[in-house]
Order: sequence, then structure tokens, then C-alpha cells
Amino acid sequence: MDLKKLFGFEGKTVVITGAASGMSKSATELLLELGANVYAVDINPIDLPVKKVYQADLSKKEEIDQVLMDLPNQIDALFLCHGIAAFPGNELLVQKVNFYSQKYMTEQLLDRISDHGSVTFIASVGGFGWQQVYDKAVELINIPTWDEEMKWYDHHPDLIQSAYVFAKQCLLSYVTYKCMSEEFISRKIRINAINPGDTITGLTDDFNKSTSPSGDALEGAQMIENIFLKSWNGYAAEAKDMGYPMVVVGSDICSYMSGQLIYIDYGLTSSWTSNALLSAKEKTIEEISYDSNQ
Ligand SMILES: NC(=O)c1ccc[n+]([C@@H]2O[C@H](COP(=O)([O-])OP(=O)(O)OC[C@H]3O[C@@H](n4cnc5c(N)ncnc54)[C@H](O)[C@@H]3O)[C@@H](O)[C@H]2O)c1
Repeated sequence: MDLKKLFGFEGKTVVITGAASGMSKSATELLLELGANVYAVDINPIDLPVKKVYQADLSKKEEIDQVLMDLPNQIDALFLCHGIAAFPGNELLVQKVNFYSQKYMTEQLLDRISDHGSVTFIASVGGFGWQQVYDKAVELINIPTWDEEMKWYDHHPDLIQSAYVFAKQCLLSYVTYKCMSEEFISRKIRINAINPGDTITGLTDDFNKSTSPSGDALEGAQMIENIFLKSWNGYAAEAKDMGYPMVVVGSDICSYMSGQLIYIDYGLTSSWTSNALLSAKEKTIEEISYDSNQ
């Protein structure tokens, strides 16, 4: 069996964002190895031998539109991976970078995506619990234009307060809401997201600083370790632990997979789910025995 052919990327057109660093850079290296024609976008310079590099700030509609104008007319796979950490005061920027620009690019490029093509996002374990904001996320998803969307954000400071979390929850809601929508399913375009756990990348220092209330990177690193690693005596992932599986998700290997939110976290979020289900059950049993004692 020819493994390269199994992926189906040989000679195919792939667009990937965030490719200057981290998970997306790893994914791009693999895509090149698999023979894809890669068009890569980042705000920073990209030092990989791709077909074409676009240096653009994807928080800005005008810069996205410039890139969109130049991208090929047929795209087989789209990977949306750019992202930033949240700091006090950059809540709106986080929505634009981590969610809205990704929705906008997907919808602007949808006509160019091949039948049976794929769209794959990098969300996060940080979006865990996305179901709680699903109705609000869907309201946002259904707003048709960039400008109206920005107004919606202005009117919902409470939601964008949890900046990084809400943006990732919107991405996960988007995949869930759109996978069977006419525009995707009529041409069998697959749409999925991966949810990385703690991974050492270009964002690590910012995540450490943004997690600590005082902005102290060492304290933040300790807090992140306590939340994501301590319970399973775990270790942080490397960029390729996320980039490579993402390439698989967007490839022909996963040709029947759509609408999936794939947690790549060694099972951490499954254990959170298990604990929540068991404690809910215990609570119910307590309530029943309380009722029957009355
Ligand atoms: N590192 C982690 O622990 C972790 C965990 C869960 C999810 N994620 C997500 O993974 C994705 C990839 O991040 P990473 O961890 O590889 O970090 P990274 O910093 O190495 O890569 C992110 C890339 O996005 C680019 N980018 C940022 N803002 C941009 C903008 N406005 N326009 C264009 N490009 C922009 C950066 O230049 C960078 O190359 C992000 O969406 C991040 O939120 C990371």
C-alpha cells in the first residue's frame, strides 16, 4: 500500500493558516512531505518551501480579503490554525483571530472548496463545555456580515469576557452547527476540529503569562501544569502531536468523518466528563433519597 496515496494530498491544493510556527508549521511540513501544493498564511514570515506565502494580519478584514482574492480557485483542504492568547483588554481581538476570521475565511472560500474536500480547525480543550453557550454561539454564527458581527460583540461584553474560552467554544459550536447544513453537506464537504491539550509552541510563553493573575510566566506555567497535567502525572505535547493528527483528519483517511470535535489530550477531558457524570449521578441519588425521606 502506498501510504502517500492513502492521505490523498499528492498534487492537491491546500490552504493553511498560522503556518509560521507551532502546530500549523508541523502540519505544513507533513503536507509538503505528502506532496500537497500548500498556500500558507501567517502574520509572521513563513520559512517553509510552500507554493506561496501570504504575510497578513488575519484579524483585519481588508488583509483577509487581499489574501482571498489571490488564493487558487480550487482548494481541496483548508486548515485554519492561527490563534493568540487572551490578555486583559484584547478580548475583541481574540474573537476576531481565534474565531471570527476563521468563520469568515471558511464561508468566503466555501465555493472554491472541492466536493468531498475538508475544512479543519484548531480549537482547544479550553472550549470544553461549549454546549453551555451554544445558543449564543449559533446566534453569532448566523449574523451575515463582518460589521454586524462586530456590533454583536459590542453588545455582549459578558460573553467575550471569557475571551479565549468563548472564541474556542464558538469554533466548536460552528462545526457542530454547520456539518449538516446545506452548503457543506450538499457537496459533502467535511468539517472538523481538533482540541489540543497543553502543547509547547510559540504560544506557550503567552499562555503562561495570561494564566497568572499577575502576568508572571513561572506562576502561570505552574497553574497550567496543575490544571492540565497534575491529575495524570502528565507531560505537555509537542507541536507535531497536534499538527500530524490534524493533517490526518483533513485527509482522505478520514473521508467519512465530519462534525467531529476531536480532543487530543491523552484523555484529560474524558476524565472531566466522567467525573461530572458521576458527581451528577451521586447528586441525583442524594436528591432521591432526600425526597423519599420526607
Ligand atoms: N499551545 C497550546 O497549548 C494550545 C492548546 C490548545 C489550542 N491551541 C491552539 O492551537 C493553535 C495553534 O497555536 P500554537 O499553539 O501552534 O501557537 P503558535 O504561536 O506556535 O502558532 C500560532 C500561529 O498563529 C499566527 N497568528 C497569530 N495571530 C495571527 C494573525 N492575526 N494573523 C495571522 N496569523 C496569526 C502566529 O504568528 C503563529 O504562527 C491556536 O489556534 C491555539 O489557540 C494551542
